[in-house]
Amino acid sequence: MADDAAPRVPPTHEIIIVPPAGHEGRHDLLQQCIQVRIAVFVTEQGFPLEVEVDEHDPTATHWLLRLLPSLEPIGTIRAHKVEHAGGSYYKLARLVVLKEYRHYKFGRSLVLALHNWAKDNARYSGVVDFVNIVCYSQAVRSDSPGAVAFYRKLGYEEEGDLFDEDGEPHQKMVVRLSLSE
Ligand SMILES: CC(C)(COP(=O)(O)OP(=O)(O)OC[C@H]1O[C@@H](n2cnc3c(N)ncnc32)[C@H](O)[C@@H]1OP(=O)(O)O)[C@@H](O)C(=O)NCCC(=O)NCCS
Repeated sequence: MADDAAPRVPPTHEIIIVPPAGHEGRHDLLQQCIQVRIAVFVTEQGFPLEVEVDEHDPTATHWLLRLLPSLEPIGTIRAHKVEHAGGSYYKLARLVVLKEYRHYKFGRSLVLALHNWAKDNARYSGVVDFVNIVCYSQAVRSDSPGAVAFYRKLGYEEEGDLFDEDGEPHQKMVVRLSLSE
């Protein structure tokens, strides 16, 4: 196998779930999640700093990807539950991996951690059949590949037309996860 086709071996790492609101350690770990988001969404991609932290951050569930043994934060993702007239779904948001750590399957691992949590959370709430996850993916732009193709690889499908969020095109994507798996 040629060197450039060899699988990339990820650096030693862990994915932790940030303690829930009101629990010790949440503030510092949440700030680390937000700093990684700012490095990617604001510094790298040019989204406005004012919209980065929103009303969901104080209560949402957050995951932090960090290197071992340094504990350097390199990625994050967040979820919150949305109740509506016909039921509920989980909203996936704020997924980032620092540029120098991409293509190690870290993004995939963060999404799968969120999926497992959502399935457990739904079962705990008495749901028995399936759970829906919704995300608003960045669409392809002249200066960015977006993330639609990334989410498709994780089973997500496009729903509806492109729409503007924070000045850039986004695509609603949805996956239905069976609770029997
Ligand atoms: C999107 C992002 C989180 C992906 O993280 P990553 O760790 O590089 O992704 P992974 O290594 O887990 O990739 C998993 C698969 O998706 C593919 N993939 C990764 N990023 C992709 C992209 N932007 N478009 C299409 N495919 C992509 C990989 O090639 C890999 O494919 P394979 O399983 O066939 O080998 C990362 O590129 C990122 O932080 N981007 C900037 C922020 C962003 O756009 N976040 C999403 C907001 S909606």
